[in-house]
Amino acid sequence: MSAPPDSNFRLEQACASDDSIQQVHAQLLKTKPEKTDGYSMFPLVLLGLMCTAVFFGSIYLAHYSLRFDPLVYNEHASREKPGAVKIVPLTRVQLGKKVFDLTCVTCHQASGLGQAGLYPPLVDSEWALGSEERIIRIVLHGLNGLIKVKGTEFNNVMAPLGETLKDEQIANVLSYVRGTWGNAAPEVQPETVARVRAETAGRKAFWTAPELLTIGN
Ligand code: HEC
Repeated sequence: MSAPPDSNFRLEQACASDDSIQQVHAQLLKTKPEKTDGYSMFPLVLLGLMCTAVFFGSIYLAHYSLRFDPLVYNEHASREKPGAVKIVPLTRVQLGKKVFDLTCVTCHQASGLGQAGLYPPLVDSEWALGSEERIIRIVLHGLNGLIKVKGTEFNNVMAPLGETLKDEQIANVLSYVRGTWGNAAPEVQPETVARVRAETAGRKAFWTAPELLTIGN
């Protein structure tokens, strides 16, 4: 077994004098000189901006938060009975607009004016405003051949939509057509569509205008 190294000897070797420590400190100070002259304005400007934002933000909230009353943000809330939500049902015409915008708008246009020479107008059209028996049939089974609308002739094809649209949707969209753009004919009820669908069940051919003119009044 070898004897443990003399610890006193090791300490002496590692021992640093006060001088050497001061030298090391001086070295460190030199490499990291303290910044004493001049400072960046940037953080100050940022701080100023933040304070301004907080200041005006508080003013805004104080003015418009309405004391964070949750009812303020609920459009259907009733003030008399807090928490009670009034359900406002959409009208047939409003529901019909959705069907129109998905199904009819490409041809008859959002304006209801159609497209000259191709798609007849629904605005002020004697067909749209006339017998519901006829327009229900047009939507159910389609229409082709010569048709006169507001004195102008069209000779094109409208595809049948009876497979795509339910009775309720046909009633809604025809009510929309009859109640928009200044049109003012009575709404069409889903029961009427259901009846016409039943009466014409099995019909495959498109309607023609002369044929339709013999139906309804
Ligand atoms: C692909 C194009 C197209 C689509 C989609 C279409 N139509 Fe038509 N529609 C026509 C054409 C074309 C005619 C005229 C057919 C003819 O010349 O015989 C017509 C005729 C009509 C007529 C009778 C004439 C008039 O202008 O008043 C009505 C009413 C009508 N469409 C309603 C609708 C409704 C409601 C929808 C949607 C559910 C619809 N159409 C979707 C092309 C279309």
